[in-house]
Parts: sequence; C-alpha cells; structure tokens
Amino acid sequence: DRFRESYRPQYHFTPPEKWMNDPNGLLFHNGTYHLFYQYYPEDIVWGPMHWGHATSKDLIQWEHKPIALYPDELGLIFSGSAVMDIDNTSGLGTKENPPMVAIFTYHLMAGEQAGRKDFQTQGIAYSLDEGDTWTKYDGNPVIGNDGIKDFRDPKVMWHEASGKWIMSLVAGDHAKFYSSSDLKDWKLESEFGRENGAHGGVWECPDLFPLQVEGSDEQQWVLLISINPGAPNGGSGTQYFVGDFDGKKFTTTQKETKWLDYGTDNYAGVTWNGLPDDERTFIGWMSNWTYARDTPTEVWRSAMTLPRKLTLHQNDKGYYLKNFPVNQIENYTQEPSLQTNGKANVLTGEDFNQNRINFEIDEKLQDFKVTFSNEAGEKLQLGYNAEKANFFVDRTASGKVDFQADFGKEVHFAPSIATSETENTFSIFIDASSVEFFVNGGAVVMTEQIFPTQPYTSISFEGDVTYKDITSSKIERIWD
Ligand code: FRU
Repeated sequence: DRFRESYRPQYHFTPPEKWMNDPNGLLFHNGTYHLFYQYYPEDIVWGPMHWGHATSKDLIQWEHKPIALYPDELGLIFSGSAVMDIDNTSGLGTKENPPMVAIFTYHLMAGEQAGRKDFQTQGIAYSLDEGDTWTKYDGNPVIGNDGIKDFRDPKVMWHEASGKWIMSLVAGDHAKFYSSSDLKDWKLESEFGRENGAHGGVWECPDLFPLQVEGSDEQQWVLLISINPGAPNGGSGTQYFVGDFDGKKFTTTQKETKWLDYGTDNYAGVTWNGLPDDERTFIGWMSNWTYARDTPTEVWRSAMTLPRKLTLHQNDKGYYLKNFPVNQIENYTQEPSLQTNGKANVLTGEDFNQNRINFEIDEKLQDFKVTFSNEAGEKLQLGYNAEKANFFVDRTASGKVDFQADFGKEVHFAPSIATSETENTFSIFIDASSVEFFVNGGAVVMTEQIFPTQPYTSISFEGDVTYKDITSSKIERIWD
C-alpha cells in the first residue's frame, strides 16, 4: 500500500522512494510552497545528487513533482536556494513572465577524485513554468573556485535596503556574503565566523534573514549555520547567530553558541523565501550524517521535520529563537481523544504513533518523565532532570536501535533555558519514525528519529510534578 510501509511517516514529508537529504530551493510563490530537496533517485543511500521537487498549498499536504535538476558536466547538484526574480534582473525570463531562479552548488566528482580542492562551484538555473521544468544558465558557474575545498550551499535573498541580491555561502569554517544585481555577477562583500560559534566540523547550509523581536519594533538579523560533526548530542546540528547585517557585513556581539534544536535529527534546515518577514518558516532534514545511511527503512530514506515558524525573543541572557510547528498543522489535528490530569497518569487505548500530546505543569519545574511503550517492551522516554537542569530524550530502548553503533548509545540532553518565563508547556509530535519535543512553544526543542517495531500503545506520566491538561490528539494522514 502506498505510503504505508513500516516506519513511513504519516504526516511528515518523505519522497515516495529512494534517498533524500537537505531541503533546497524553499520558495513561496503564487500561493504555492515549493520544496526541493537533495535526492538520489537510484538508491536509498547518498549518491549523485539531483533536486527532487514537491509543492504544497499549506506546507502539510504535499504533491510530488518530477525531478527538477539533474547532474551535468559541471557536476552533481548540491544544496542551494531559489528566488522569484520578479523584475527579471537576470534577463533569464521576461517582465511578463519573470523567471524562478535556483542557485545551487555544482560538485564535480572527477575533481574531488583527482585530489583537487576547487571542485565545488556555484551555478544557477531558471524555470519559466512555476518550477516544473528547468534550464541551466549557459554562463555557469557564476562563482568559480580558487581552491576552497568546502565551498557550498548558496542561500540567496533580496535585500530591500540596498536593492541587491545577497548570497550567503559557506567555506569550511566561515560564511561568505556576496552581492549581485542580476544573480549572475557576484561580488564578495565580507566573511564571518572564523572566531564565532561552534567549529567541531564543517559549516554547511547558511541562511541569513531579518526577524523582528517579539513584542517590539526592534529588528535583528539571524544567521543559521549547520555544522557536521560538532552538534551538542553528536554528529550534525544547526547553530545560529543573532546580530546585524548592513547589506555587506554580518556582525554580532553574541558570545555563546546557540542551537536551534538539541535533538540529533534536525539538520541542514533553512527558511522559505517569498513569505512576509513575520512568517519566517523553517524546515530541516530529520536525520544525522552519523547514521543517515543506516536507518531501517527500505523503500525511501529519511523525512523532513514538521515545517516550523521561527520567532525571535529576548530575555536577560540575550536573544533566542523559538521554533514551533506552523499553525496549519492544527487543520490536521483532531479533537483530543484522550484527556487526563494529576500526579501520575497513564494513557492507553489507542496507538500513539500519529499523535500530538500536550500537557502543562503548574508549579516550578521538577523531575518528570513521560514514557511511551509498546507490547514489544520498547520504550521512548523524555522529560526533565532537575539536578542537571536538562531536558532529555532517551531513545536507547525505543525500538530498533542496533543498525548503527551510535544511534541508541546515549541519552540526549538539552539545557533548560531558565528564563524568567517558566518552562511549563509541552508538546510532543510523534509519527511512525520520529518524535519532536517542544518546550514552551519551541524555546527548547529536541527532534529525534525512532524506529519502534510496533506502535506505542501506552503513555505514562511520572515524576515530582502535577500534570495539567494532558491531551492526546490524532493527526490526520497526509497521503491519499
Ligand atoms: C548537508 C550537505 C550540504 C551539501 C549536501 C550534499 O547535509 O552536506 O553541505 O550541499 O549535503 O548532498
């Protein structure tokens, strides 16, 4: 049956078959959300990259489209972004029918195999039919390479104040910013990051955008940088910087490293172009390079996170991002089917692997533990450890874990952000092979893959707290 194989997510995006990694070319245009993605159509492990394509009217239900970009003599098609060139600045379309332009990295396998360092360059392609068919620009590459081994993942945005296109690009241990007036000629403006943030691995998939601080008129600039390895719980993760961008240079006074998600499975995430600034919508690849190729699915491999709204907040410790599933998910969330309250609670009577669980804790945060379990004796636990002031996800016995040595080895932690705001509302989105744990509307987030061999049929709530308003609601399946 279509999209009913074991572990197949029922309300998260997956390709119909074969390997997927990063989201690419996120663009909202003419009422349609475009999601392109790193895709290898021949196997369920990484291979010569293409851009897969899907569209949606609401970010939840997706229509699969034909492959958008194929490798060519300049290389494989690595990650990148897409813009609507409304004024036809590139001349690749017309004023009447402006082009959709994709900006991506070419990865030349032969160059890499020959031991050269200049095998990644930046190219563009355009579509005059809403992203259905694409033509590569005949002047590619638009940015060549003079010897930088990791030089990739262009994210382009229109910068209103300077009237220019701005590209963020990564170069191993830092980001580079370029400007252009036509998407073809690019000028290097500045660099950022050699002395900032985490450097346990290579910088990948940058994203630069403005965001207003909630409850004020103040605007800041946010720079997302994925890093692999070097994430707080091992392998791949996404850090961010809050600062200023003047059209040429990104600067920040931020001292500490901030992470968008402390779970092990939210990587290479970026935001949609083409939305109003107060709708900064993010999606990440729900995997980790440490074991991405080993997970126990057979027809396809890996899913995207739920699309999430990013908001910027400020407390006594500085700025922080929240990320939380977009409102549209409410349209797929049924009325709660189970409800309870009190000290110790158990929910049973249905399968919980296509559900949203909400609860609150009234008093000060104390130890608590929520355990999902099934008849095979598999257990997924998450909660809070007061002594360590950490939230945790424990998937060590959550189902199939032995397909790779690190996957089920350790319990994963997220520091409490200990704000003046008490951390007392919790949401858990659980699907066939993932759990997304949100504290206070996304102030602390942990996203993790899980592979229970049967659905969880019981949830127990324990600890030193009194639970309030525990609800469990079904989320509707998004595939016909
Ligand atoms: C991130 C990444 C990108 C690269 C792509 C290749 O996961 O390594 O840096 O463009 O995947 O598929």
